[in-house]
Amino acid sequence: MSFPSPSPTTAALVTGSSSGLGVEIARCLARRGHNLILVARRLERLDRLAEELSAEHGIRAETIGADLADPSARAALVDLVTDAELTVDVLVNNAGLGSDGPFHEQDVDRHNLIVSVNVDAVVDLCARFVPPMVERGTGAVMNVGSVLGFQPVPSTVTYAATKAFVLSFTEGLHTELTGTGVHATALCPGPVKTEIWDEAGADALLDLAPSFVVVDADRVAEEGVAGLERNRRVVVPGIANRIGAFNGQYTPRSILLPVADALSKLVRR
Ligand SMILES: NC(=O)c1ccc[n+]([C@@H]2O[C@H](COP(=O)([O-])OP(=O)(O)OC[C@H]3O[C@@H](n4cnc5c(N)ncnc54)[C@H](OP(=O)(O)O)[C@@H]3O)[C@@H](O)[C@H]2O)c1
Repeated sequence: MSFPSPSPTTAALVTGSSSGLGVEIARCLARRGHNLILVARRLERLDRLAEELSAEHGIRAETIGADLADPSARAALVDLVTDAELTVDVLVNNAGLGSDGPFHEQDVDRHNLIVSVNVDAVVDLCARFVPPMVERGTGAVMNVGSVLGFQPVPSTVTYAATKAFVLSFTEGLHTELTGTGVHATALCPGPVKTEIWDEAGADALLDLAPSFVVVDADRVAEEGVAGLERNRRVVVPGIANRIGAFNGQYTPRSILLPVADALSKLVRR
């Protein structure tokens, strides 16, 4: 079965579409004619994007203000989608947040929040929306990981571990779903200029990243959606990031970890 075709009764649900990559992923799907359900906490931003994309592409765009760290808000999503008389045939788990600095210097609430949004919400929404896709024999799910998910990363250990989870979970899901008609792709970007860096207090780090590893958000989104259409298991935009991901996966930890630790201390001096 091929990637779901747009229809008046179906929609792509994109989490974290109030800024950054989520906005660009929503744009890519709207260009292809998919209706949208935009989900994040900042509802006014979602409403503005919905208005823009429906005017530009003649699609239907609904918005839902929800805190994905809250299990009851996640559970309510299914009813809200049903009330809108739409079926989710494309799910994009993009919402996420990061951290910067040694684990022991971060607040416990921050660690818990990162795990809730980056991991719990991904599993939760897949568990709610993927089984009906399998029943219908068509659908697609894209989970946004990171190149930091290919290895442990000192100074952002919780964030990197959540992205390792997303990568492992999605690769396993992709394999399980073979033959069901449902696509599953892990989109694992390297550095992209978005608000996540400011939010994590790491904006100075982005300025230190060499320009050849930084990829524009619209290109990351386009490569991700194109990869999902082709049912690629993993998409890493940018050749330098693909080399980094390969090294992260296959360099022995005894070499990789001290080097990564020294580098992270150097750039944070
Ligand atoms: N930018 C990079 O360098 C980079 C690299 C690799 C991977 N990624 C991943 O890409 C994804 C998108 O991040 P971005 O770079 O586009 O950052 P961003 O501009 O900060 O966007 C993050 C999005 O997540 C949403 N979000 C955060 N907490 C939420 C919550 N509790 N409930 C609902 N929505 C929440 C935010 O919406 P509200 O604040 O309105 O709720 C926002 O729309 C993340 O999963 C991130 O880990 C980013």
